Amino acid sequence: MSFAFGIGIGTQNNQGEWLEVYYQQPIMTPGKDLIDVVETALDYKGGNQAMDVKAEQLTRFANALRQLGQTDQAKLAEKAAESKRPVVVTVLATDDTASSTPEVYLKLHLISHRLAKPHSVKLDGIFGLLPNLAWTNEGAVDLNELPERQLQARIEGRTLEVKSVDKFPQMTDYVVPKGVRIADTARVRLGAYVGEGTTVMHEGFINFNAGTEGTSMIEGRISAGVMIGKGSDLGGGCSTMGTLSGGGNIIISVGENCLLGANAGIGIPLGDRCTVEAGLYITSGTKVNLLDDNNEQVEVIKARDLAGKNDLLFRRNSLTGAVECKTNKSAIELNEELHANN
Ligand SMILES: CC(C)(COP(=O)(O)OP(=O)(O)OC[C@H]1O[C@@H](n2cnc3c(N)ncnc32)[C@H](O)[C@@H]1OP(=O)(O)O)[C@@H](O)C(=O)NCCC(=O)NCCS
Repeated sequence: MSFAFGIGIGTQNNQGEWLEVYYQQPIMTPGKDLIDVVETALDYKGGNQAMDVKAEQLTRFANALRQLGQTDQAKLAEKAAESKRPVVVTVLATDDTASSTPEVYLKLHLISHRLAKPHSVKLDGIFGLLPNLAWTNEGAVDLNELPERQLQARIEGRTLEVKSVDKFPQMTDYVVPKGVRIADTARVRLGAYVGEGTTVMHEGFINFNAGTEGTSMIEGRISAGVMIGKGSDLGGGCSTMGTLSGGGNIIISVGENCLLGANAGIGIPLGDRCTVEAGLYITSGTKVNLLDDNNEQVEVIKARDLAGKNDLLFRRNSLTGAVECKTNKSAIELNEELHANN
């Protein structure tokens, strides 16, 4: 059983190097019969390969796919045969470290299409394979070619709008998963996993290999690698600590039915039904006063010792400044109205 397959249409620079690839219908664990067709029609020799394919090969491939009963993929191959942009057929026999840009794009698509969960796909070394590009209203442009393209557009009476300069494009230019609202599409990168029922407001952000399991209101930042459980809300401007830039090596997650208050932050994973007071940032070494139901101190522990525990309320005592943790009596109910139109 192979790991993944996709027919992609992409962009190459003037040197013929891949800049990005759009896979409309990637497949996870494609059957052997499909891979056999790739072997015969496209001379696929096994292993992980991104094959540049020409129109006549695609027509042959489409016929073979149709015979196999893979109607949707056959239609896609037929359309791709008419593409003005380069076409790639990518087969990943195994989930090894990617070795080309089309392979990385296929992996990121798998996550955003909700075919694979964050952390379930090997993404080491992807930064080296993702070129930093100008993402424009006319598609991806190699930065070395940008001034020429800008000039050409002006000469032709147009303006080339550069929407971002980044290694990752915005997810919604590639896939809009079912049942989501994303107020500012630039804030969700390809490779994000946006669960059904999630609303991402303008201040919300979701990095690659990160996301939400289901219904959530996201007004804060979900850093790379962070997963938010069903029914949990991230308040305005709050922060979940990532592991990419000096954030430590604990993978942060948030359980179900939690609330991170506005401008709060966490450097430890939370269990279910936890609340962090607005404005309180808990790092893993933060010393915490554990309080009983009478607000009497039971012990002082480090926040990391509370990692993953359920039913906790974290707050900063407004009189003493000490960080306190109590049993969270009122697990936050999501505001039904807020989520009614997801
Ligand atoms: C931490 C939080 C959940 C506490 O809310 P709560 O459980 O409703 O608590 P209350 O405000 O009813 O207060 C309960 C008691 O604790 C006290 N208290 C609350 N916060 C306190 C603090 N930081 N320090 C000391 N005492 C505090 C209250 O004064 C009250 O005392 P009392 O029993 O003597 O009357 C709330 O302050 C909060 O930060 N919510 C996040 C909201 C948010 O940001 N949403 C996202 C919007 S985008």
